Amino acid sequence: MKISTNASAVEYPNADCCAVCHGFDGKAMNFKTPENAKYIGTVAKENPQETSPKIIAVQLGVPMVVVGVLDTQDLVDIFTQAQALSQR
Ligand code: HEC
Repeated sequence: MKISTNASAVEYPNADCCAVCHGFDGKAMNFKTPENAKYIGTVAKENPQETSPKIIAVQLGVPMVVVGVLDTQDLVDIFTQAQALSQR
């Protein structure tokens, strides 16, 4: 998937709110098992079509911030930074 962004990919300030729970490297939260680790960086790269709506609308039943208040460019920038995070 090709998207354009203003983000410098490594430092996008609005993504700091995500780091509270997910960590600055995205690895504070493992969505799967220790043997088959999946972090934000992993899912954003492997499955962008599922990850991007989750960032905008959040998964049901998950205690996560809804960032739908941000404009589209901010969300694209956050998603770009997510893709730049460590995958393993
Ligand atoms: C208050 C804590 C909290 C904050 C802040 C938070 N998250 Fe989450 N996030 C969660 C939890 C809990 C889950 C669900 C984890 C699971 O399913 O095991 C989750 C899941 C996700 C998923 C889905 C992973 C999957 O299962 O495919 C993505 C993507 C994600 N977060 C991105 C973000 C982004 C981007 C931000 C900042 C805009 C953010 N999160 C901020 C707690 C948070």
